[in-house]
Amino acid sequence: MNRQDTLCASAIETIGDTPLVELSRLTRGLEGRILAKLEFLNPGYSKKDRIARQIIEDAETDGLLKPGQTVVELTSGNTGTGLSIVCGVKGYPFVAVMSKGNSMERARMMRALGAEVVLVDQLPGAKPGQVSGGDLALVEQQAQCIAVERQAFRADQFHLAGNFRAHYLHTGPEMLRQSGGGIEAFCDFVGTGGSFAGCAAAFKEFNPSIACYIVEPEGAAVLAGEPASAPNHRIQGGGYAMTDLPLLRPEHIDGYLKVADSAAIQMTRRLAREEGIFAGFSSGANVAAAINLLQTSLRGKTVAVLLCDSGLKYLSTDLWE
Ligand SMILES: Cc1ncc(COP(=O)(O)O)c(C=O)c1O
Repeated sequence: MNRQDTLCASAIETIGDTPLVELSRLTRGLEGRILAKLEFLNPGYSKKDRIARQIIEDAETDGLLKPGQTVVELTSGNTGTGLSIVCGVKGYPFVAVMSKGNSMERARMMRALGAEVVLVDQLPGAKPGQVSGGDLALVEQQAQCIAVERQAFRADQFHLAGNFRAHYLHTGPEMLRQSGGGIEAFCDFVGTGGSFAGCAAAFKEFNPSIACYIVEPEGAAVLAGEPASAPNHRIQGGGYAMTDLPLLRPEHIDGYLKVADSAAIQMTRRLAREEGIFAGFSSGANVAAAINLLQTSLRGKTVAVLLCDSGLKYLSTDLWE
C-alpha cells in the first residue's frame, strides 16, 4: 500500500518514498531525459533523513545503541537534521558537530528539533559558505572528543554501512520502480559517497549497464585523480577533496564529472524558475552534470539524479537574489 494512504506512527515513517519527476523543461531541445528524485520532500528537507533512520535502526538491531544513550555526529547540517528528527522521536539525546562555514539555517533547525549544536571554527582564512576537507577535519576531531567524553554512539556517516544501506535498500530501488526500470545512467555529487554507492549498487544489480558517474567540484576533483587546486568551492554538503571514501566501490564507478560553482548555482536557479523545484547547490550540480552527459556521451539516454536538499536551507546565502 502507498504510504500516503496510511496513518504514520511518527515522522520517522514519513522518511523516503519521495517523488521522481521528469525535468522536461530544462531538457527542452536536448535528446534524452533527466529524472529527478525530490529528496527535499523528506521531513528534514534532505536525503540525509534516510541515512539517519538507517544508521540508528541498524545500531539498535545490532545492540550498539542503548536506550537513552547520547548520539554524536559531524554534519554539514543535513545528516544532523535527520538525526535530530530520528533521535528526538526515539528519545536519544543528539549532539551535532558542524563547521561554522555551513549555513546557519541548519544550526537553527537542528536546535529547534531538540539537538545540541556544537559549531567549530573554520581554518584560518577560510570563508563561510566554503567548507573544505581541512575544515571538516577540525569538525571530526571535535566529534571524536565529544563521543569519548559523553560515552556516546558515533553515528559515523563516513564509515557505517547504514549510510550505504539506506540508499541501496530504498532510494535506488524506489527510482527503479518509479521509472519502470527505465534508468540508463546516474550521476551524483559526492560527500561521504553513501548516496552514490548505495544507488549505484542497486542499479548495477538490476542492470550492470546502467552507467554511474561521480560528480565533483571543479578544482577539487580528487576522486578523478586531479589535484585539489581550489578546495574552497560553494557546493555545500560534499566535494571535500578526500580520496579515501570507504563506502565507495570502484567497480561501480563508470566515470567522473566536474561542475563549476557558477554552473551549479545557475542550474539551481533554473530548477526553481523553470521547473518549480526549490533545491540547494548540490542539486543544481547534479542536474548540470546530467545535462552535460545528455549533450555529450549519453545523448538520447535517461539520466537519474538526486535533488539532495531544499533551497530553504540557503536563504541566508547569495544563492537566491
Ligand atoms: C546537500 C548535500 N548534497 C550532497 C551530499 C553528499 O551526499 P553523500 O554524503 O551521500 O555523498 C550531502 C551530504 O551531506 C548534502 O548534505
